[in-house]
Amino acid sequence: MSQPTIESILQEKRLFPPSAEFSQKAHIKSLEEYQQLYDKAKADPQKFWADLAETELDWFQKWDTVLDWQPPFAKWFSGGKINISYNCLDRHLTTWRRNKAALIWEGEPGDSRTLTYAQLHREVCQFANVLKQLGVQKGDRVGIYMPMIPEAAIAMLACARIGAAHSVVFGGFSAEALRDRLIDGQAKLVVTADGGWRKDAIVPLKEQVDKALANGAVPSVENVLVVERTKQKTQMEPGRDHWWHDLQQGVSADCPAEPMDSEDMLFILYTSGSTGKPKGVVHTTAGYNLYTHMTTKWIFDLQDTDVYWCTADVGWITGHSYIVYGPLSNGATTLMYEGAPRGSNPGAFWDVIEKHGVNIFYTAPTAIRAFIKMGEHHPKARNLSSLRLLGTVGEPINPEAWMWYYRVIGGERCPIVDTWWQTETGGIMVTPLPGAIPTKPGSATLPFPGILADVVDLEGNSVGDNQGGYLVVKHPWPGMMRTVYGDPDRFRRTYWEHITPKDGEYVYFAGDGARKDEDGYYWVMGRVDDVISVAGHRLGTMEIESALVSHPAVAEAAVVGKPDELKGEEVFAFVTLEGDHTPSEELAKELKKHVVNEIGAIARPGEIRFTDALPKTRSGKIMRRLLRNLAAGQEVAGDTSTLEDRGVLDKLRGGA
Ligand code: PRX
Repeated sequence: MSQPTIESILQEKRLFPPSAEFSQKAHIKSLEEYQQLYDKAKADPQKFWADLAETELDWFQKWDTVLDWQPPFAKWFSGGKINISYNCLDRHLTTWRRNKAALIWEGEPGDSRTLTYAQLHREVCQFANVLKQLGVQKGDRVGIYMPMIPEAAIAMLACARIGAAHSVVFGGFSAEALRDRLIDGQAKLVVTADGGWRKDAIVPLKEQVDKALANGAVPSVENVLVVERTKQKTQMEPGRDHWWHDLQQGVSADCPAEPMDSEDMLFILYTSGSTGKPKGVVHTTAGYNLYTHMTTKWIFDLQDTDVYWCTADVGWITGHSYIVYGPLSNGATTLMYEGAPRGSNPGAFWDVIEKHGVNIFYTAPTAIRAFIKMGEHHPKARNLSSLRLLGTVGEPINPEAWMWYYRVIGGERCPIVDTWWQTETGGIMVTPLPGAIPTKPGSATLPFPGILADVVDLEGNSVGDNQGGYLVVKHPWPGMMRTVYGDPDRFRRTYWEHITPKDGEYVYFAGDGARKDEDGYYWVMGRVDDVISVAGHRLGTMEIESALVSHPAVAEAAVVGKPDELKGEEVFAFVTLEGDHTPSEELAKELKKHVVNEIGAIARPGEIRFTDALPKTRSGKIMRRLLRNLAAGQEVAGDTSTLEDRGVLDKLRGGA
């Protein structure tokens, strides 16, 4: 057995079983039922997924092979023909759900819209025909850079309908970040809006698109479609730019869903890693449809009368899987909110819950910490009694924030599903099933049926109870990413080569440390690589360093995460300057702005510390571990013997 590497510090003993009332009505009703499902799936994963694919999804043609596994490349349901837009829309139209609310949308200024399944289907079909008229074909890529408005979901579903892959870029990213992603994906068309409302201000999205495309920087883009949302003055380039409402007018609503191969690409979504440019994570059609469908159904325990609300942005994987595809495939009512809690209304979320009678609420720990800070009087002043289930995602939740969420928002009656997963996994991997698995504050509890997770050492051996190790998955699952767009070798290197079992097995590892307790519950401890998590959003230190170094004054930069009460981590940058520049507050400000321009406001450094030199090993590797200690204001801990110049450390301590 391996030696303990990380001592367990957190001793959380509280256990919260679901109420009998909740369990009775739930899809999965008891721990025994979960265990049976888990064991069945473990014994024969292919049969488990094939049975669900058969009963839960509609196919144009059944598959020949359930799983074709050429490590690390998996194909699920090869030979099958399916369309996720059909599964999200058309199949509900022949049932009573035809006139059920599919999407309830709330705009930040207080306007709202509800689209039934029939209405959403119509809009999607029309927009799919618009895309076709503009020459978008099966296999093309479409960039989507949108505020949180129904057209974002409509555009995604329309792409899926005709077999074009979407590449949604979060509306908070800068023009530069958008440009890089459009170039990498060779997007043929971009869908955007004149602007979107965010914290009482307009985010000028179209302006950013213009900047991204300026001077023919992205030659693949032929057309830009613009939704009129905020009605501010907007430049339209003749021939290239078109208003959504102009083109949508009078277009046929007849657009049968294209039968797609199971493994046809559904979308690309870019995510940060510890090295290099963001990676285009590729997800395909059938496996992703099945995985998001099943996880949504069992984890959020969807019932047909529920109003379900996930507060993520569609620009992140959570928005893809748990605002759009998972809920709609289940015929649920999904709520989409454009805005955020803000100075003029810190209780905005609670207003939305009260107004729409939200039953299931899924948000991020960073938001919960902000709610705690704003004070319980905001939620207390609203009627939140419609809520029956709560969820969190994005980072570990500390037990006290969990307890606050449970008590103040859930009124001590709602189970909390703390869901661990990643852009790469497509859907939730480790999580409570709320009617079955008793929860412990701070633990994501147990793996979803069919997910053969474990905590291991570098050779892939399971570590003992309560010992720290690497969180891995040992068998392919339908929702897994298939490759890095255009770079299969990077896919192999990044995810499949860190853990190297002696028997040559392939094990998936994407960067998190964890431990399992004596009940087999998982406690995710956070990233073990150079990725930092700001307000639940993943940022690669490399990207921010590259942005800083692209400024003429900067010679070298090292970025680390500094613990932050609200955001989890904040960006802390150590910077050395080119010879003819001197440190100043103005320069620090300018550099922060530069990072915002290069990447977006989420990457803005909270602090920039100028230094003459960075601590490096003799082989020239920056010792980020030491910088992390310094940023957190802690004593530099651990071994410093590999440091090339110890004087650097003394200077940094002095803040020089
Ligand atoms: O470190 C883990 C953390 O978020 C990372 C994935 O980030 P991203 O791909 O942007 O997706 C976020 C939404 C799925 C993970 O590697 N993470 C996510 N959920 C949790 C979490 N850490 C602890 N507990 C969670 N519930």
